[in-house]
Order: sequence, then C-alpha cells, then structure tokens
Amino acid sequence: MEKEKGKKILFPQIKGILHGGDYNPEQWLDRPDILEEDIRLMKKAGMNSASLGIFSWSAYEPREGEYHFQWLTDCIDRLYENGIYTVLATPSGAKPAWLDENYLEALRVDSYGVRYHHGARHNHCMSSPVYRDKVRNIVTRLHEAVGEHPGVILWHISNEFGGECYCPLCVKRFQDYLAEKFDGDIDKLNHAWWTPFWSHQYNGFDQIEPPYQNGEFSIMGLKLEWRRFTTWSMTDYMKFEINLLKELTPDRPVTTNFMQLYEGLDYREMAKHLDVISWDSYPCLHNDYESFASTMAHNAFHHAVMRGMKRDKPFMLMESAPGLVNWHQYNKLKRPGVHRLFSLQALACGSDTVQYFQWRKSRGSYEQYHGAVVDHLGTGDTRIFREVAGLGEELKRLESVAGSLVQAQTAMIVDWDVMWALGDMRGLCDETKRYADTCAAIYETMLRLGVDVDVISQMDDFTGYRVLVAPMLYLLKPGVAQRLRAFVEKGGELLATYLTGYVDENTLCYLGGFPGDGLSSLFGVVSEEIDTLYPTDQNGVCFAEGVLQESDSLREEQVRDYAERLRVSDADILGRYTSDFYAGEPAVTERVQGEGHACYVGCRLSMTGMRALFARMFKRAGIHMRQLPEGVECHVRAGEDRQYEFYLNMTDRETALSDVQGENLLTGEMLQGTLNLEPYGAAVIVSKL
Ligand code: GLA
Ligand code: ZN
Repeated sequence: MEKEKGKKILFPQIKGILHGGDYNPEQWLDRPDILEEDIRLMKKAGMNSASLGIFSWSAYEPREGEYHFQWLTDCIDRLYENGIYTVLATPSGAKPAWLDENYLEALRVDSYGVRYHHGARHNHCMSSPVYRDKVRNIVTRLHEAVGEHPGVILWHISNEFGGECYCPLCVKRFQDYLAEKFDGDIDKLNHAWWTPFWSHQYNGFDQIEPPYQNGEFSIMGLKLEWRRFTTWSMTDYMKFEINLLKELTPDRPVTTNFMQLYEGLDYREMAKHLDVISWDSYPCLHNDYESFASTMAHNAFHHAVMRGMKRDKPFMLMESAPGLVNWHQYNKLKRPGVHRLFSLQALACGSDTVQYFQWRKSRGSYEQYHGAVVDHLGTGDTRIFREVAGLGEELKRLESVAGSLVQAQTAMIVDWDVMWALGDMRGLCDETKRYADTCAAIYETMLRLGVDVDVISQMDDFTGYRVLVAPMLYLLKPGVAQRLRAFVEKGGELLATYLTGYVDENTLCYLGGFPGDGLSSLFGVVSEEIDTLYPTDQNGVCFAEGVLQESDSLREEQVRDYAERLRVSDADILGRYTSDFYAGEPAVTERVQGEGHACYVGCRLSMTGMRALFARMFKRAGIHMRQLPEGVECHVRAGEDRQYEFYLNMTDRETALSDVQGENLLTGEMLQGTLNLEPYGAAVIVSKL
C-alpha cells in the first residue's frame, strides 16, 4: 500500500479504480480461441484486472505430485501484456478428488458428527495437519511457477471462508482452547456457563463436546464459545496461509473475500491479519418485499461494515453479479442502468474496486446460469456486456477518487458476539429478533438524513465520532459500559435501544437491572420487563411537545415487535407508550451526562420516529445533514484537498437536487445549483476542500 498525497492507494500498478472479476481459463483450456477472445473482450470492457486460480487445484495438480502450471503462466503473461493485472488466489477453496480419497481427515465433519463425502467446496477441516501440508505444497509450487510475475498484484486467500468442523481433531482443539481461555480451571468455566442448571457441571475440559445437533445445545455460554472458537480456528488456518505467502512474497498484500455479516465467522478477528478488506455483494435487487432504495441502502450498510474493519484505506468489492445470480429464491435480472448505479455505490461507500463473479459463464455444472460479463452467446454484443463496458469507460473518469476515504462522524456499533448471543438466547421471538436487519434499517434512517455512518465494534475506539448508535447491544464486553460513559461525558451523543446490556461476555445476565454494568445509571433507566408483540399487535409512542420538530409536537410513532417497560430514575421522558397496560409509561428517555446526552429507546420504534431522534442528535452534535429527494443516497469521500460527493438516484424516476457545486466527473459538467438525475442516475461531484 502506498501513500500518495494523503491518499491510500491500494495498488500502485493500477491507475485509479480496479475493474475486474473471477476468471476461470482452466475451464476452457481446449478452446484457445475463447482464451484469445477473452483478452480482446476484457479490453473492450475496460477491465484492468482478473482474479485467477480460485478453484484451480485439480488443474494445477490433477494427480498427487503431478503439476501443470504452464497454462496459468501463459494466461498471466497474456493478461499482463494487455495491461490486465492478476489477483491470484490460493486454491484451498476446493479440494481435488485424490486429496479426499487419500486423506480422509481433510474432510469436514458436520454437526451430527458425520463426515462429509467428497464434493462441493469450502469444506476442509481447519485443523487438519495433512490439509495444511497439501496446501503448503501447492501454494509453494504456485509461487515457483508464477509467484514473482510482475502482473500479480494481490493474493486472494482461498474463497469465502465459512462453515464449522466437528471432527475429533477440532473437538480436541476446542477443549484446549477452552482450557486456555478459562486458565485451566474447570470451575471458572462451570460458573461462566451456569452449568448447575439441568445438572450440566463438567469435571474436566476433556468432557466438553461442541454443540452437536443431537447433543449439548442448551448451554448459551458453550454455544457462544463454540462460535468464537470456530472463528479462532478459521483465523488460525487463514494465518497459516498468510504466513506462508508472506514468507514467499513479503511485500504483496493479501486479502480474503467476506460475505456481508456472515453469521459463521467474526470477520473482525480475521480482518486484523489481512492487508485489505474485500467482500462479495449480492443483494436481492428488485424484490417484492422492500423498495429498491431500501435494498440498496442495506447494501450500503454492508459496505460500511467492510469499511469499518480498516478505516484508514479503501476496501474492495471483490465480487458482484454483472447480471443475475443463480442462488436467490427468485433470480431477477438487474434492470438497465442498475449495474452502473450499484457499482458506483460501492465506490461511494469507499471501495476502490468493482469486480465480478464471473467473467465468463461456465458451460456446465453448478453455476452455468449465474450471470457473467460474457454470456454463453460469447460476444460483446449483449445488454450486460455493454453496461459493463460503459461502466469501464466511466471508471477511467473516476481515477482521482482512488485512495480517498469516507470520513464519517457517526458510528453504529454492530457486533458478531451480540448477533450470536441474541440469536441463541431463548426468549423473545426468533422471527423478529432480526439483529442485522434492524441495524441495517436504522442505518438507512441515518442515510436518509444525508449522513455517512461507519459500522464499528464495541471494542473499537470511539474517539473521533460525535454520535454513537448502539442498536440492541445485548452483550457487553468488559470495559465497554465505562467507555460509553466516557464518550458521553466528553460531549458525545449516544443512542441505545431495548435489549441493551442484558448479558456479560459469557452470556450471564447482569444482576440489579438492565442495562447492566453501570449503564442503567448512564441512561437513568432500568428496563423491568420486555414485551414481545405479535405482528398484529399495535402500540405507539407519543412524543412530548418540542421533542421531534416544533411542527410535529405530540406526534405518535408506531412500535413493533418489542417494548420494554422502563423505570425512570433520572432522565427526561421524551415519549410514552400509547396502548396496552403500560400506556402512558416511558418509552424513550434522555439524560445529560457531562457534556453529552444518553438517549434510550425502549422499543422498536418506527423508522420515522428514529429518524426524528437522529435529526435531533445530529443537530446538537453539529453534524451536517443534507436535504435529499426521496430515494437519493449521498456519500462523500475526501482526499487531501478534494472531496467527492456521490449522488445516487435509487429510484426509477427523474429527480433533482439543489445547491450542488462542482464538476460532475462523469459528464465534465460544472454545476452551480441544480443537479438533475435521470432514473437510476448518478453523479460524482468533485470540489476543492
Ligand atoms: C460466491 C463465490 C463465487 C460464486 C458466487 C456466486 O460469492 O465466491 O465463487 O459462487 O458466490 O454468486
Ligand atoms: Zn476438523
């Protein structure tokens, strides 16, 4: 990574934005004509990168010890000669048949204790020494063949790490992991996991089994620790690959591709060991259950999750579908113009790449109907190809955006531990807990105020932010409550919601009142009970005069799903419930602490209600809000002396914004006032800082 005029350039070899995607020439080795045509078409599409070797192990080593790399060398040469750089994967995402045949231990074991058969992908045991040996060997050979090639700019480790393994090797490691975590003291673990319940006390670490489906599923601490262990074990495996690559090519950056807030792995633990964050984005666009603008806003939320893992540099959009995918429930086509808009949103949110799965549709097997830049038709004369090529041209105009950063003053706390603990806890309603979706929806309300929001962990540093939002912060790690208090004391605006601070890091409930660990005195409330609402239940919050906007005094806002009954000891009551036996009781409160404010929203409040509360907080914090037409997103990236305002029209209607100043990089037009946006249109306005 290089620093250039205060910018963080990911790849000095690439001018501007990296444009590429997964490329599988190994599927076409008997068609040299197609391999030639690929290069011509990639250039035509304005691609400057291709991701190679993601699932190529059986092409490299069809039989154990027999190697074929010439095709790869030829391919990387060809790409390089044509100005196309290679993102090179390690092939550990899928195993060749001979490996599973000869080394059974490399196969994963499922949560019933049954060993997998050979097949599919992403299914090796993370603990298996044999698997690591085989990977070390093939990666070393891969490096010998092409590792020093000047065309290779990045290592892509494996592919979309995921899943769990319950094999004897992994079980033993889990027990060792627990022994270390609990200082070899089984009583410590028994206490933390509350094992006298249902007679579950353990006498030793070697008695502990993972949460098999047909075994121990009733200890919340065990389930949580198993998830943490799975992350630890996957990270340990990933570090093995990283260490190997760093020995071979110390200066080449490494990444692995993430998947949104994938529940199986705490990406933040993995991110610590990566040079750059990359992810694969496949939202269900044009669905029938939410507006296109909302789907896109939730996608922006996931971009913010990725950005939050390394805030000091851009991230990568490693995969996206140029057209449709083949694995959604309904595989809908991206409407004309949406590919461009979707790609520009990634840039707007801080990505310096637009990459696809996949370059060319495979002819057979599982993903033969998955969208690609090049279809089975085989030409550049398709709607999708033209849209990709059009974008390729436009990306050249956005060269100077590369390396600039989104600099948000607001952050939302979203954590895997919280997602896991909330998901596992028995209570509430499994269908409506919806932690990630709720966070995304709250994120959208802030976006609608024209404010960029980072997504961070409760363990991240809060300094630099003026507003912190912590939806459903059910689990608190040590020291977090104190840090939240310090944040408010120094003038921060904090908003927390129902389900805050119920359990500690081991899922033991706090005694003496939720939110625990001292947070009840920060907010001045204790949550005495939580009511779970049926979808048909109605409740509301009536806000006190002057709380929202002057003109909206006494407005009633809807409550869904969850409502806490609050005892207020020392806080202003902003809103009260309108129905049920707790009608008239406090629902939303606020308390001054030091220089700042701590706002508690005891129920799942309508998005308009949340938006009004945020507007109030942003105003107090001096955060600039932008007036945006409905469905228009605005994100701002800044370099040392320039800022880039992205305006994205997430509707199929024309719209206009006033008071926009600067040059639209996409058209060259100088704007001094009105910006008109066509349906699904976008503009990137550059101005001096
Ligand atoms: C994932 C994988 C790709 C491909 C796509 C299909 O992101 O990484 O190999 O299977 O999904 O959408
Ligand atoms: Zn295993």
